[in-house]
Amino acid sequence: MSNNRYAVILAAGKGTRMQSKLYKVLHKVCDRTMVELVLDSLNDLEMQEVITVVGHGAERVKEVLGNRTKFVLQAEQLGTAHAVKVAKDELKDKEGTTIVMYGDTPLIRPETINSMLDHHENTNAKATVLTAIADDPFAYGRIIRDVNGKLVKIVEEKDATEQEKKIKEINSGIYCFDNKLLFEMLEKVKNDNNQGEYYLPDVLALIREQKEIIETYLCDDFDETFGVNDRVALAYAENVMRNRINTKHMLAGVTLVDPTNTYIAPNAVIGRDTTIYPNVTIKSNTVIGEDCQIKPNSYLENAQIGNGVKVLSSTISDSKIGDYTSVGPYSHIRNNCELGQHVRVGNFVELKNTTYGDGSKTAHLSYLGDTEVGSNTNIGCGTITVNYDGKNKYRTKIGSDAFIGCNSNLIAPLEIGDGAVVAAGTTVTENAPSDALVIARVKQENKEGYAKKMPAGRKS
Ligand code: UD1
Ligand code: MG
Repeated sequence: MSNNRYAVILAAGKGTRMQSKLYKVLHKVCDRTMVELVLDSLNDLEMQEVITVVGHGAERVKEVLGNRTKFVLQAEQLGTAHAVKVAKDELKDKEGTTIVMYGDTPLIRPETINSMLDHHENTNAKATVLTAIADDPFAYGRIIRDVNGKLVKIVEEKDATEQEKKIKEINSGIYCFDNKLLFEMLEKVKNDNNQGEYYLPDVLALIREQKEIIETYLCDDFDETFGVNDRVALAYAENVMRNRINTKHMLAGVTLVDPTNTYIAPNAVIGRDTTIYPNVTIKSNTVIGEDCQIKPNSYLENAQIGNGVKVLSSTISDSKIGDYTSVGPYSHIRNNCELGQHVRVGNFVELKNTTYGDGSKTAHLSYLGDTEVGSNTNIGCGTITVNYDGKNKYRTKIGSDAFIGCNSNLIAPLEIGDGAVVAAGTTVTENAPSDALVIARVKQENKEGYAKKMPAGRKS
């Protein structure tokens, strides 16, 4: 390894322009917080230390990032240079390269960071800034170059002259620095600008004054350097990221019938020859196998879907679905359900914390909660497990090859043995042994001719 590498991620700002109760870097792009996406871009690199500067919403940001990074607290937000300086005690004496990134640039790709870092190290630069050409450079710092094309300084929108505002080359907010020099120069940054802030980009002009090498590294895709400061920008970032994710899946053999209306989290995995229909949302930590059909309006979150599965207009969260099983339309499977292979869960079925063995079926209109169902059992339409007494939840166990007739109430705690048959309309209150017929309903009585005396009967 050529050099020690460190990273500082700035995530202390409030994000006033977001007009939000939620701190800016915690807003999500394709179901992942912006600050996590920034950290993800460093995943390929071996780093000695990654430090995130937190301030507004520090506790929430720490919760989200967990042990992926160290944290330092910037109690008062006095500007980006001030924010980096907060990491001084952790870093100032270290030899090596420090990458600084802002937590609001979620579209940066690891490949770009890697090649920028190579460029920085190969040119022996003391600082390298990642730049891009923006059609509309408004709100970005502009790159000011001398006649030889060398970077002189970066000017913020609010401090720029009319002439400088016309410059389209912008500061991405992603830099590599010689670590020791960075912390030396940070001491010299002043806040004599229109915002009264200590600007990190001012470090570049200071390094230039030292006659040290400063490089720029041009990213040819402006979108990667896109900074999110308000919700309009957030929607733009979402769109770019969605397009990227969807393209990746299509190129890997997944059919997306309408990629503009398919919402897939960056870490979702989808197998080949699976087809995703319009208006499907696939949230984080979802894995879908091969040859599946995820039909319109399905919503999958932290779901593990096997091969050859069909899902139609259904919600599946925190659950596992076995091969060749079909779900929906309009079912809801949640909280640790596990369905085996060739299971069928049909229209309007809700399953919670429930397991099904292979080949079992619930075709229509049922609720099963805290239930274990064996294999090849048929649960009739309108079956309800009565798992909650208003205070506690109880389990129901239904064996294999059982048959639960329509409109049954199964009052938990309850066990129904293998091969048992529950007659339609039965309220089961006691355990049923294997192969028993369970029937509990008022015996039918036919009152001959009585219908004609009823108001309805008189009409005919
Ligand atoms: C900044 C750059 C600008 C660049 C743009 C790229 C400065 C002065 N300006 O402007 O040149 O073109 O990003 O997107 O650096 N933060 C802190 N503590 C602070 C201030 C900010 O942690 O005291 C964090 C924010 O949470 C944010 C990041 O630093 O993640 C950048 O701050 P922001 O206010 O968004 O700067 P921009 O105006 O976008
Ligand atoms: Mg910004």
